[in-house]
Amino acid sequence: MPAYAIIGGQWGDEGKGKIVDFLSEKAHVIARFNGGNNAGHTVITDAGEFKFHLIPVGILRPESICIIGNGVVVNPDSFLAEISGLQSRSVQMGHLFISDKTHVIMPYHTLLDTLEEKIRADGGRAIGTTGMGIGPAYMDKVARIGIRMGDLLDENELLSKLSFVLEQKNALITKIYGGEPISLEDTYEKCMNWGRELKPFIRSVEPILQDALVRDQCVILEGAQGAMLDLDHGTYPYVTSSSSTVGGACTGLGISPRHIKEIAGVYKAYTTRVGSGPLPTELHDEVGEFIRNKAWEYGTTTGRPRRCGWFDAVAARYSVVLNDVTSGVLTRLDVLDGISPVKVCVAYRVNGEIIDGFPTNTTVLEACEPVYEDLPGWEQPTASARRFADLPQEAVNYVNRLEELMGCPIDIISTGPGRDESIVRRSMF
Ligand code: GDP
Ligand code: IMO
Ligand code: MG
Repeated sequence: MPAYAIIGGQWGDEGKGKIVDFLSEKAHVIARFNGGNNAGHTVITDAGEFKFHLIPVGILRPESICIIGNGVVVNPDSFLAEISGLQSRSVQMGHLFISDKTHVIMPYHTLLDTLEEKIRADGGRAIGTTGMGIGPAYMDKVARIGIRMGDLLDENELLSKLSFVLEQKNALITKIYGGEPISLEDTYEKCMNWGRELKPFIRSVEPILQDALVRDQCVILEGAQGAMLDLDHGTYPYVTSSSSTVGGACTGLGISPRHIKEIAGVYKAYTTRVGSGPLPTELHDEVGEFIRNKAWEYGTTTGRPRRCGWFDAVAARYSVVLNDVTSGVLTRLDVLDGISPVKVCVAYRVNGEIIDGFPTNTTVLEACEPVYEDLPGWEQPTASARRFADLPQEAVNYVNRLEELMGCPIDIISTGPGRDESIVRRSMF
């Protein structure tokens, strides 16, 4: 079997973790290709609830191989904490590898994330980052002064690289942001300890992936964030700093697009967003509050309340086309149980005129008024349903209408957080 990409279709937190876990039963390899510990992927199994930030959710399948690809940025402390958390719950750690090309989130990245965000906030331009150092780490990658996982294993060369970079960073931290400088000695020691602890995990991962693909084994590409947070194609500048669309899966792992057979786009049955930036269908009323409380829409990584709104079919169609989604996945349908009518945004209106497509310019997007279509809600619950035929007719109509508006089939419907609370209309495999 070839590779299957699982991509977030909205602003993150669509339920990718649950879906990757659900689909990974047959997977030989599960690989993360973008983002870092800004991600929070929740999985619920018989052993309880797991929240993953860096480790692919496939770690719960002991026979599979898990890979953290070059497109990811890794905070070693966060990675090691996640490992010990799993070990303390007796999760058998199968095969887990980090690419030697993966960039390290250093202490100055996390500090700079906070300092930069403060300056942005003072200027009324806060992004609402997770504060994990993601942006600053990707900045250094692009500026070609990043420290990679492989560098942690070469102690002499590391000292020279680190002293060069830290001089620049400390100038920035102290002179521009008025912060406290970071000690070279402490950082070097930290890096050497990381190198020793991470050594068993660091290797060249491309041969593992290529070997699996050549042998026709199933490889699942686990996306983080969502298309609308993609650095290039999302609602810039209110985005993350990596490629969360399907192109990122190829560059973030070193595999050819020709290996990807299907692209699953995961969509919540409504919309949420954490942090700043336009959200045309945001609800500031009791329905939004009802959804947030019922679905416990609070960030997995930062605990911040998620902004909630109706399903935005304009944004969804944009991300379907962008990723060429072959298989739509609709999650959290059960959250809409009991709400009537259920609204769907079918177009945007600016200054009284309906506009075509999804606007690039954030100011235009902020001025967009959603045009809603009202669909009758359903009284019978969809929660935990496992067959499409068991859904109330109004819920079926909702799914069918979303398919039409999005322009892709909805093959999987998730009706609860548990592994088995899923309806499969067509299997990708
Ligand atoms: P991810 O970042 O895309 O993996 O999503 P998160 O884990 O951050 O947030 C999704 C939340 O929805 C988690 O708490 C999941 O347990 C939960 N979830 C996933 N699918 C469903 C579903 O179909 N119904 C309900 N009620 N909860 C779900
Ligand atoms: P998962 O994988 C939802 C958001 C942050 C902020 C913006 C930039 O769980 O879906 P960053 O720290 O990345 O520089 O923050 O992106 N963000 C997410 N929102 N889910 C995520 O990941 C996110 N990762 C980043 O809230 O608005
Ligand atoms: Mg999440």
